[in-house]
Amino acid sequence: MTQCRCDQTPVWGQLQAAFDTSGQAFDLRKAFAADAQRFAAFSQSAPHVFADLSKNLIDAGTEGLLLELARQTGLEAHRDAMFSGAAINTTEGRQVMHWLLRTPPHDPAMPTQSVHRHMAETLHEVQTTLGTMLAFAETVRADEAITDVVNIGIGGSDLGPQMAVLALDEFVSPGKRFHFVSNVDGHELAAVLRKVKPESTLFLVASKTFTTIETMTNAQSAKAWFEGQGGTDIARHFAALTTNVTAANAFGIRTTFGFWDWVGGRYSVWSVIGLPLAIAIGAQGFKEFLAGAHDMDEHFRVAPLAQNLPVRLGLLDVWYRNFHGFTSRSVAPYHSALKRYPAYLQQLEMESNGKRVDADGQALHYDTSPVIWGEPGTNGQHAYFQMLHQGTDVVPVELVAVKTPIHSLPGHHTLLLANVLAQAQALMLGKADVGGHKHFTGNRPSTFLLLDELSPASLGALIALQEHRVFVSGAVWGINSFDQWGVELGKVLAKDVEARLHSGNVAGLDASTAGLLTKLRA
Ligand code: F6P
Repeated sequence: MTQCRCDQTPVWGQLQAAFDTSGQAFDLRKAFAADAQRFAAFSQSAPHVFADLSKNLIDAGTEGLLLELARQTGLEAHRDAMFSGAAINTTEGRQVMHWLLRTPPHDPAMPTQSVHRHMAETLHEVQTTLGTMLAFAETVRADEAITDVVNIGIGGSDLGPQMAVLALDEFVSPGKRFHFVSNVDGHELAAVLRKVKPESTLFLVASKTFTTIETMTNAQSAKAWFEGQGGTDIARHFAALTTNVTAANAFGIRTTFGFWDWVGGRYSVWSVIGLPLAIAIGAQGFKEFLAGAHDMDEHFRVAPLAQNLPVRLGLLDVWYRNFHGFTSRSVAPYHSALKRYPAYLQQLEMESNGKRVDADGQALHYDTSPVIWGEPGTNGQHAYFQMLHQGTDVVPVELVAVKTPIHSLPGHHTLLLANVLAQAQALMLGKADVGGHKHFTGNRPSTFLLLDELSPASLGALIALQEHRVFVSGAVWGINSFDQWGVELGKVLAKDVEARLHSGNVAGLDASTAGLLTKLRA
């Protein structure tokens, strides 16, 4: 095991002491006044992303201790273990290699020694699968008879492709509509089925395991609808994206695209799960999406810790969660097309790091994943930003802005950028007012991520950045960021409750569940 738990390192106590003496009372306004170089010291470029961290409650001394924490917890060795294909997802005995999905075919960084021959073979398989998937995507794009693509999947089999298809809407060639059905609530599928016709629809059944009850139920209903409407050519109108091709075949789907158990669901948009995106933006666009992510992988793999953006962000997350005690992070993308970005990040962070035991199953005595929440700006400003400015909780805000818009409507973009800058200013500066109600304490932290433009490459880099920052905080916390046992109990209980909803048997249930169940059946 390469990891050492953060609370077992010598520097953990030093960080607590630093927090008690200066961290707690840190004042951003004073820090800027005292240091003309603060912006330069706490901002940096990474591939496709410029990041300003200077409006965070941190100074050089604290960042130095946090970097030491990264070293003492063995972050670099853990990162290298991931990139060498070690089975760091120990509770499931799996490698963690979503990064390999975006490794170019002839990557000079790819080791050639015989111990790595297996990895080279796997990369070859990855490239072959990608080629097949992209060829299919191009065929669908050229097929004018297919006007609607319906992705049926949930969690990582929905959030990634949906977020990316929406984000890159400007790159989507006209002639195809994309629909995403995830919820087992039949209202969602029924609403989509009302809009489409069997002869012009391609259903993509996306499920890593091909057992997820929501997806299986929706897929069954879609197939029944298709056949009921006179549809016959299942091979043309249904494709499965899965690691479980056998189950997809048993379901009656012959057109299948496979991937591997070393791709976690929430890390799978780079695999065949990204097919809706590939259809939407084309093979070239999808390759650029992968290339942007690969650029960020390389940055994470080789940049010195002090200039490594995922490392700096992940360590800041630890500082805020474990020393300041902040319970959440709000994400505000100032680009309306990034509307599913907060939801995507919720799964990425909270399913990865929402753990109460370490990688060895020992209980933790410190906090882990923050709550992630947010909406695109400027909308959030007219809803919950009140609380960010004047609420009793301090919530670090992560802003995303794009320098150059794709549209040409005059005035809008300057106004949008003025708002994102002004919000970060207002959070930091605050406003004195004796009256109380109009007083803003200020000193509220924010991080500013800036893209030149929202493109396949920059989106790929932004998402890979987020994946790696989650890796960093998870590694420092000493947890396994790649399993998700916490979702299992609800699944088991739902099966039992479903049977009871049919039978009406409430024996052995708690009084509340029994009461509700009886009311639902009445
Ligand atoms: O229930 C949680 C989960 O396993 C996620 O981790 C995953 O992304 C989602 O369900 C969907 O799983 P699958 O792709 O196997 O249907």
